[in-house]
Amino acid sequence: MAEWDPGQYLRFEGERLRPALDLLARVPLERPARIVDLGCGAGNVSAILKQRFPDADVLGVDGSAAMLEKARAAAPGCRFVEADATAWRPDEPLDLIYSNAALHWLPDHAALFPRLLSLLAPGGCLAVQMPAMHDAPFRALQYTVAARGPWAERLRGVGSAPPILDAGGYWDLLRPRATTLELWETTYLHALHGEEAVVEWATGSSLRPFLDALPEGDRLAFRRAYADAVRPHYPRRADGTTLLPFRRLFLLAGV
Ligand SMILES: C[S@@+](CC[C@H](N)C(=O)[O-])C[C@H]1O[C@@H](n2cnc3c(N)ncnc32)[C@H](O)[C@@H]1O
Repeated sequence: MAEWDPGQYLRFEGERLRPALDLLARVPLERPARIVDLGCGAGNVSAILKQRFPDADVLGVDGSAAMLEKARAAAPGCRFVEADATAWRPDEPLDLIYSNAALHWLPDHAALFPRLLSLLAPGGCLAVQMPAMHDAPFRALQYTVAARGPWAERLRGVGSAPPILDAGGYWDLLRPRATTLELWETTYLHALHGEEAVVEWATGSSLRPFLDALPEGDRLAFRRAYADAVRPHYPRRADGTTLLPFRRLFLLAGV
């Protein structure tokens, strides 16, 4: 698994927190006892889960040691474990599996999502938010720029998160296995500030696998070529702000 940089990811903490809170606001449980924050990252949402459900045991699971180091400091009331979420299993059934902006990095959702439902206790809930952005210019251009520069050979086969299913795909997959199911999508218009703000955003997430695969010199040139390609699609407004339309899929499944 490529390494995550908590500092770069958290540069847009406010924008990245908003959908996490929107998802949490819709969780229908009163007093879940056992909660997992799957792909918990730097733990800022784990801490909020603990605030909302103070009596619960909140366990954050993530594959990145750097993210978990931050998480242990950010959420001292929670427990954390380093594990691959595709294979991780709890000791006992869970009341809430919460996952914000993480499961899109995991393959084979047709197997993953039913497996997650099977880890829930009766009355439990799976609450998930994932970006639905595969076709967005700033994502598609990562592949275009990767394929056409001197780095093309080195970047062959490199990519960020694979496309998630469409909403109907999750409905068909989960409806027969859940007692309740709610899906919705929201397009946020993130108001970003500073030079090359969209490139900075991507550097904290989807651009990372491409940059990680390149030596230092190529990395700078690749980033510059990517910035040139992205710029016309995300013009700065008169006040210097750059608006980044960002569609996210939300899913609440009860068992
Ligand atoms: C975009 S961050 C989201 C972090 C957090 N949920 C939040 O809302 O801020 C995605 C996280 O998923 C984790 N991740 C990606 N693939 C994973 C896997 N297979 N197993 C465990 N964690 C994984 C990464 O380490 C990263 O911390």
